[in-house]
Amino acid sequence: MKAPKHENAPRARMGALAEEIRRHNRLYHEQDAPVLTDAEYDALVDELRGLEAKHPEWAQDDSPTKAVGGAPSQTFAPVRHPHPMYSLDKVQSEEEFREWIERREKDLGRPLSGFALMLKLDGLAVELVYEAGALRVAATRGDGETGEDVTANLKRVKTVPTRLKNAQRLVVRGEALMTLEGLEALNASRERAEEPLFANCRNAAAGSIRQLDPSVTASRPLLFFAYQLANAGEVAEKTGRDLSTHESQLDYLREAGFYLNPWNRRVESAEEVVAYYRECEAGRSDLPYEIDGIVVKLDAVSEQEFLGVVGRRPRWAVAWKFPPQAESTVLEEVHFQVGRTGAVTPVGVLKPVRLSGAMVSRVTLHNESEIERKDIRIGDTVRVIRSGDVIPKVLSVDAGKRTGREKPIRFPTECPSCGAPLARDRGEEGVILRCPEARCPAKTVESLIHFTSKSAMDIDGLGQEQVRELVEKGLVRAPADFFSLKPEQLNELERMGEKRRENLLAAIAAAKDRSLDRLIFALGIRSVGEKTARALARKYGAIEALLEVKAAELLDLDEMGETVSGHVAAWFADRENRARVRALLDAGVRPTWKDPVAAGGPLAGKKVLFTGTLAMPRRLAKEKAEAAGAELVSSISAHTDYLVVGEDPGSKLKKAKALGVAVLTEAEFVALIGP
Ligand code: IVH
Repeated sequence: MKAPKHENAPRARMGALAEEIRRHNRLYHEQDAPVLTDAEYDALVDELRGLEAKHPEWAQDDSPTKAVGGAPSQTFAPVRHPHPMYSLDKVQSEEEFREWIERREKDLGRPLSGFALMLKLDGLAVELVYEAGALRVAATRGDGETGEDVTANLKRVKTVPTRLKNAQRLVVRGEALMTLEGLEALNASRERAEEPLFANCRNAAAGSIRQLDPSVTASRPLLFFAYQLANAGEVAEKTGRDLSTHESQLDYLREAGFYLNPWNRRVESAEEVVAYYRECEAGRSDLPYEIDGIVVKLDAVSEQEFLGVVGRRPRWAVAWKFPPQAESTVLEEVHFQVGRTGAVTPVGVLKPVRLSGAMVSRVTLHNESEIERKDIRIGDTVRVIRSGDVIPKVLSVDAGKRTGREKPIRFPTECPSCGAPLARDRGEEGVILRCPEARCPAKTVESLIHFTSKSAMDIDGLGQEQVRELVEKGLVRAPADFFSLKPEQLNELERMGEKRRENLLAAIAAAKDRSLDRLIFALGIRSVGEKTARALARKYGAIEALLEVKAAELLDLDEMGETVSGHVAAWFADRENRARVRALLDAGVRPTWKDPVAAGGPLAGKKVLFTGTLAMPRRLAKEKAEAAGAELVSSISAHTDYLVVGEDPGSKLKKAKALGVAVLTEAEFVALIGP
């Protein structure tokens, strides 16, 4: 998700976020047409959760943070699941998978006795309840406790048995899927009818099942594979059959008349699981439907029962996901964007392509060296992926698709914004072009946007758009100008009503006493991030002291090498920058500084590291730790004082134990730092 355009007062932002999340919930759950990736959606939810934690009094009673993950829709009758439907824990590499095995063996105190393996089918989870041989209820997963009644629709899916010879009550779970071919045909006919297209098989399957008219479901090419007998204990008891392994339960389902996926397999060792993963990854593109990994379950029910469920995720099963898939598209053009430090970045304009469920049309090409290394040209067919599922990037060029008409990417020698000759810096990641002109309009706008942004001076109501407008109208040229804006000047801005104007003026006034570290960060000194800004604030305590700073004395600070020290000293030595700082002070900016370490907080001087998923937003946890005097570190060593672990901790936990570092749960951490 891009930075929010309008940073209204937190309360307004909270309202807007709640609305936005609800809209995406509807798109995802009701219209099966998501426009955000999971990561982008999660970012919205995290932001709202963070604000609600800060301002609980403004949280809506029916806030979407309270029911994230698919509240049942209004359209279908609710169905309470006889047993909750859980989610799967996930791992993303062989290393993580082996760590998962190790943890489970440790929990059990002995080697695992065998694994039931299956494909992770990318469709819609469905629960089917049979009584006296008839399908009584079919429900979607919903929030795991309550789903939607889609019985009439599932009855029309060809691979769902509606009658069983077996009179036993069965609670069967499985995945409803649409085949790739089915999706293509469906989209072709939707295109002819000028209806919106489905982004992927999962959305198409969900859309086809969540239909008010079951005949529509019947017309769609859907498959259902059963993967779990949820009431196996009950069935075993009533029938006297041995269902003490996952495999025996699947056999039972097959005999009862369900379709099982032909890739299901039972193996004995972790090595065989790894081999299965590789086999599935290689076979993935030949499958007629989409999968996004494999599911590994401990086969023995005794082991499943012993390990149990933690936080809605069984500890006896895990999804091992495939790495993100690359897609091919055409690089149509390249633009050059000037950032706040003057760095000129090439941005590729792509023929829009769908990547993990969202459309992508722009991609950063980083720098000249990256482009040379990958030999990227305009007109090339490129393979793009979303790294870490958020930022799209070009993996490689498909040289086989070249026609000879591709054009090399020409780097400007002059700044696209101000025309100044560009300088060439050799950075760690290659050659970077930089506009050296202090008055460059693009740089000015970008640095002013940075100045007002959330992690800097945090002026609510001054988003990118407003800052651009203020600069265009000549009302703001330097940071200090924000603080002398008059009400009548603000009236010139678009969509500026009286209420917004008052809020904005109040937010600007409030920003005058932001903390010193925020002000230092807001100045936009090259290589000075939030952490370095804090170190500088700690050492100097006042902005006036920084005006006298010398590079050599900065080298004492842990965070700073020669390059950063040089940038800091040069910035404060520059005549115009000094004038900028003085103008801020003259405008009434009074940065405050209270060193949390000196303040003797409960974590004063302690080196703290977080790992795993915390219940509170990570950013909030870090702020709390720092407010308690902690120094945040990014990797674990014998010098680390505390490792705070959330759900699904990775290798850091193991390392902490090996190094004898104290490990805290989130609750212990909260207890330690106090209210
Ligand atoms: S087993 C504890 N098996 O993955 C067992 N789930 O995060 C829970 N899924 O929404 C489910 N293929 O729809 C299981 N072979 C498979 C699966 C599978 C896909 C989905 C399922 C659920 C999600 C769990």
